[in-house]
Amino acid sequence: MANNARRKQIVATVLYPLDWLEERSGLVGGVKYFLFRKVPGDIGWGHTLGSATLTAFLVQAITGVILAMFYNPSPNEAYESIQHITNDVDFGWLVRGMHRWGASVFIILLFFHMARVFLYGAYKYPRELNWIVGVFLLILGMFEGFTGYLLPYDQTAYWATVVGMNITGNGPFVGTVLAQIMQGGPAIGSDTLSRFYSLHMLVAPGAIFALIGLHLYLVIRLGVTSPPWSRTEAGSGTLAPPEPSTARVGLVEPTLRRDGNGRGIGRNGNAD
Ligand code: HEM
Repeated sequence: MANNARRKQIVATVLYPLDWLEERSGLVGGVKYFLFRKVPGDIGWGHTLGSATLTAFLVQAITGVILAMFYNPSPNEAYESIQHITNDVDFGWLVRGMHRWGASVFIILLFFHMARVFLYGAYKYPRELNWIVGVFLLILGMFEGFTGYLLPYDQTAYWATVVGMNITGNGPFVGTVLAQIMQGGPAIGSDTLSRFYSLHMLVAPGAIFALIGLHLYLVIRLGVTSPPWSRTEAGSGTLAPPEPSTARVGLVEPTLRRDGNGRGIGRNGNAD
């Protein structure tokens, strides 16, 4: 009996701040909805690649913040500060290694995730906008790799950036202007390094965070696609029909699009 009362008291103590937050923001309900939303029953490992990419990006963000505490973006200090991180700072070698190798992991996962979306046809109606957001994420992800490569300011970094700037400068229409803005002078030097540093640790990650927010909002709003071989998606009727949803149409279930003959078009673009 006493145990029961104690338990109730503990539950009430834990719930109080959550209720307080929920009443004022609706955040608790939002997180609950995100965690317990329904996804198709026949999705598999391929669908974990987006979350894997997100995890890789978060690792880059966290290790990058730690590196920024010790890195010095000036031509005379940059290389030394990186040597200092690797050799003297506690676990500096680990954090730097995670950031350096993690960059490749992030890009590889990004491509795997994009390949999964492409092969499953998950870019089709109504997810075209999310594909477009993804394209911007891909460009920004590769831009992160390019700007980060200069930061150690050793021979490899310098000459790789010379090549990259020449390629950019030869681009159509905006190429020359873009290269001039990024280089910040007639040759790669201290202005280039500080510009690359600012783009690498502020502008690009900020834009990526914002776009990931939009990307995930669209994933939640539209739901994830079943694989193309899904029997439920193809509507063969061999699986039990789904329970009628009480959710507002358009929130978790995209509104049905119709073709010219008034026939419904499924989420994979197939006629229902
Ligand atoms: C920082 C980069 C990215 C992150 C963190 C990310 C994250 C995610 C997550 C968590 C999902 C839901 C689960 C899944 O389908 O794996 C998803 C779905 C999706 N992503 Fe990405 N993504 C990124 C880049 C891209 C790129 C480069 C593209 C394509 C150009 C793309 C297109 C899509 C599409 C169309 C969906 C919906 C898939 C479906 O409904 O089955 N994403 N993304």
